[in-house]
Amino acid sequence: MKARPVGIAGLGSYVPEKILTNADLERMVDTSDEWIRTRTGISTRHIAAKNQSTSDLACEAAKAALDDAGMEAADLDLIIVATCTPDMLFPATACILQEKLGIKGVAAFDLEAACSGFIYGLAVGAQFIAAGIYENVLVVGAETLSRIVNWQDRNTCILFGDGAGAVVLKPAENGRGFLSFHLGADGAGADLLKLAAGGAAMPASAETIAQGKHFLHMNGNEVFKFAVRVMGDAAEKCLNKAGISKEEISFVVPHQANMRIVDAAMRRLDLPLEKAFINLDRYGNMSSASIPVALNELYRANRLTNGDILLLVGFGAGLTWGSTIIEWSK
Ligand code: UT7
Repeated sequence: MKARPVGIAGLGSYVPEKILTNADLERMVDTSDEWIRTRTGISTRHIAAKNQSTSDLACEAAKAALDDAGMEAADLDLIIVATCTPDMLFPATACILQEKLGIKGVAAFDLEAACSGFIYGLAVGAQFIAAGIYENVLVVGAETLSRIVNWQDRNTCILFGDGAGAVVLKPAENGRGFLSFHLGADGAGADLLKLAAGGAAMPASAETIAQGKHFLHMNGNEVFKFAVRVMGDAAEKCLNKAGISKEEISFVVPHQANMRIVDAAMRRLDLPLEKAFINLDRYGNMSSASIPVALNELYRANRLTNGDILLLVGFGAGLTWGSTIIEWSK
């Protein structure tokens, strides 16, 4: 069976209304607007309302993507939700999203690769279309990280925000679309960024709650070094697979964790910083939602032209990483 080319038919994103500024954080922990801006590049982040969860944010982004694709939810063959903050451990947030979209029967599952989740989701979703199994696949990256952050830990709480981004994938009639994927993982780094309690290894108990084990923990310095190295490597592997040179890249859409990481990765790749699309100043790190929200903003700003070469590259807990080259066509 010959693989079919796969492209993006529609994009959408959603961030909750409530904005948390650095000034707000100054009143919550021992930090300063100056420290946060200079060490991370972040100024504001969006926080989900009490009655909103990951599936709600995902639903808004999915509806926008379907609308952009000129499709109904009923046209979908598969729903993949990439998230590390699912509504609950099970059932899958993708199933809850399916119900919120008002459809039944279509396959739905979650995929967990932390901040690399959206790229993993694109790669998995695209394979179903390439193999001729499905026609229209919804891939969503959605997170409510505000629910797993320790709001008393200045090392982490300043970094994260909530949001969702979605794309509808379909066969690319003109042969453009995804030119290559590169995915990777290194489980030896699992301890560097994790939420330890609430799973099978450490079930929820009064003790785990007292010890703050239901919050995200991160060794920021080690993740930083890993991120800079792996973004460069993942980008180069993907470019090689696609037979594309660095100079041909129109835009890089990187995972939005820290401005200094993006800056160092772009320098390592010997690409001008202007080619990186950055919105982390407004949203912070939204894990699996960062890349699709950024891609959607780039698209909605009318900055993409057919034939443009895009590099999407991310990294995250696991440790995981992923990249893809897209020849834009829409
Ligand atoms: O999506 C993937 C997940 N995460 C990431 O990609 C994050 C990767 N790591 C980072 O972005 C950075 O390591 C951080 C932003 C988390 C930290 O920046 P850093 O430049 O590596 O700072 P540091 O951890 O080395 O801390 C420097 C100092 C410390 O004080 P001392 O020990 O030098 O007195 C920290 O206690 O800054 C202090 N500090 C803060 N000060 C004010 C740490 N957090 C804060 C804060 N406000 N929020």
